[in-house]
Amino acid sequence: MLCYIPTVSSFFLLILSLSSSVSTSFKPSDKPILIIPGIMGSQLWARLNRTSVNHPQCSKTSDWYNIWLSLEQLVYPVEECASDNMMLQFNPNTSQFSPVDGVNITAPQFGNTSTIEFLDPDLHSLEPAATFYAMVQYFVDNYGYTRGGTLRGAPYDWRYAAVGLESNGYYAKLKDLIEEMYTLYNNPVTIIVHSMGGPVSLYFLTQVVTQDWKDTYIKQYITLSAVWAGSVKSNQAIISGDNEGIILDRPIWGRASQRTFQTTLWLLPPAGDVWGPNNTIVYAPTGEYSAYDYEKLMADVGYTNGPAMYRLIKDKTSEFPAPNVTTYCFYGLGKETPYKLHYDPDNFPNSPPKVTTIDGDGTVPNISLTVCGRWSKQQVHPVTLRSFSPVEHVHMVKNKDVIDAVSKIIIADD
Ligand SMILES: *[C@@H]1O[C@H](CO)[C@@H](O)[C@H](O)[C@H]1NC(C)=O
Ligand SMILES: *[C@@H]1O[C@H](CO)[C@@H](O)[C@H](O)[C@H]1NC(C)=O
Ligand SMILES: *[C@@H]1O[C@H](CO)[C@@H](O)[C@H](O)[C@H]1NC(C)=O
Ligand SMILES: *[C@@H]1O[C@H](CO)[C@@H](O)[C@H](O)[C@H]1NC(C)=O
Ligand SMILES: *[C@@H]1O[C@H](CO)[C@@H](O)[C@H](O)[C@H]1NC(C)=O
Ligand SMILES: *[C@@H]1O[C@H](CO)[C@@H](O)[C@H](O)[C@H]1NC(C)=O
Ligand SMILES: *[C@@H]1O[C@H](CO)[C@@H](O)[C@H](O)[C@H]1NC(C)=O
Repeated sequence: MLCYIPTVSSFFLLILSLSSSVSTSFKPSDKPILIIPGIMGSQLWARLNRTSVNHPQCSKTSDWYNIWLSLEQLVYPVEECASDNMMLQFNPNTSQFSPVDGVNITAPQFGNTSTIEFLDPDLHSLEPAATFYAMVQYFVDNYGYTRGGTLRGAPYDWRYAAVGLESNGYYAKLKDLIEEMYTLYNNPVTIIVHSMGGPVSLYFLTQVVTQDWKDTYIKQYITLSAVWAGSVKSNQAIISGDNEGIILDRPIWGRASQRTFQTTLWLLPPAGDVWGPNNTIVYAPTGEYSAYDYEKLMADVGYTNGPAMYRLIKDKTSEFPAPNVTTYCFYGLGKETPYKLHYDPDNFPNSPPKVTTIDGDGTVPNISLTVCGRWSKQQVHPVTLRSFSPVEHVHMVKNKDVIDAVSKIIIADD
């Protein structure tokens, strides 16, 4: 008898674990999923037809090729060609942003996950270039989701902030995609976002669609290490250039290119109650700067178009309006994260700063990751916060505990 008891209990344990992990009647169409990636989280493809280039080795013409990311693009001098081709041009007279003449860049495969699972289509083994692959494969293997079917992706040209995504038609396509999924599967859609996908989707949920629309089409909103209130790495990018990069631990784009991306400015810690006037972020020979002093900072480091660009790019997402949908706000902690930058007089602003850190995910500080906490008092729909430690910013979408926690939400009975 004694030896029989453990067998019985393990049998029951087996039943219990089976019934909790494989919900008997769960079908992927019950909970269609849409993923919105972060900055640098979508492949970008380019086609060139330029009349002039900066470097004799750079091509003037090309068929479509993967400009972000491919190892071939990271070798000197090709890297400088890529950096130059990626630039945006800002015309202060018309307040318009445009690509470099003769460069067409696009984020392909809208609606599918193929271009957000791996950044380099040829090098699936390059670990940093794998992004949503592990999570997508998990849903495919364990719950029968299909890529481009019950599980979709909404890649975008991540050089553009919400204002640019709105004018280039991204939000209209996103709305159509969610409506199409709802119609096909007869169920509202779960949105999963990472990093800058946080503000990209928050703008959509609070400035583009109505509450009635959300009540119909959105099941729930799962945010992974969202950059709600900026990252000090953006301050470094506009001053001396981000010498670490976000995906690979090395510089990719020169400062000149970083200063032209709308999103470098969009991800600056915004002035407000998270980054107050007394919270000095940058210590430099020219002065001390809080989030209230960006115009002076930009002028002092010779970023001429910065203030005009910043005024156009700032939008309501910097006031953190509540999405007012069921929200799970997950984020990584336990990694030293840039908080304050100290520049030497020597060679300012061209040398990298000394950095003071705070807790965070290595890229986004805790005070930015946790802004979602205030929504529980501002909306009727529940808001659940959970930290995972230590989990680094980019690993948030690959970490097993995070994937487990996300899948529990997905398969939970209502
Ligand atoms: C390339 O640009 C030139 C004008 O600079 C134009 O005449 C030509 O048709 C373009 N070629 C392609 C393939 O778009
Ligand atoms: C903006 O206008 C000024 C004055 O008319 C002109 O000199 C300048 O070239 C214009 N800049 C651009 C980018 O068109
Ligand atoms: C860029 O390429 C896309 C996709 O082929 C095309 O729809 C668009 O018209 C092109 N834009 C320009 C400015 O050539
Ligand atoms: C989505 O991409 C996968 C490859 O990642 C491909 O097998 C599938 O056919 C695509 N689905 C659609 C609907 O295009
Ligand atoms: C900033 O510091 C000044 C001087 O210490 C103080 O008077 C002011 O109340 C502080 N402002 C905030 C928003 O904390
Ligand atoms: C949130 O949405 C619900 C309907 O889902 C609505 O009753 C409520 O008024 C909304 N709250 C806010 C603050 O908009
Ligand atoms: C952020 O981390 C610091 C320690 O680095 C801690 O003192 C502070 O309370 C944390 N703030 C939040 C909002 O979690």
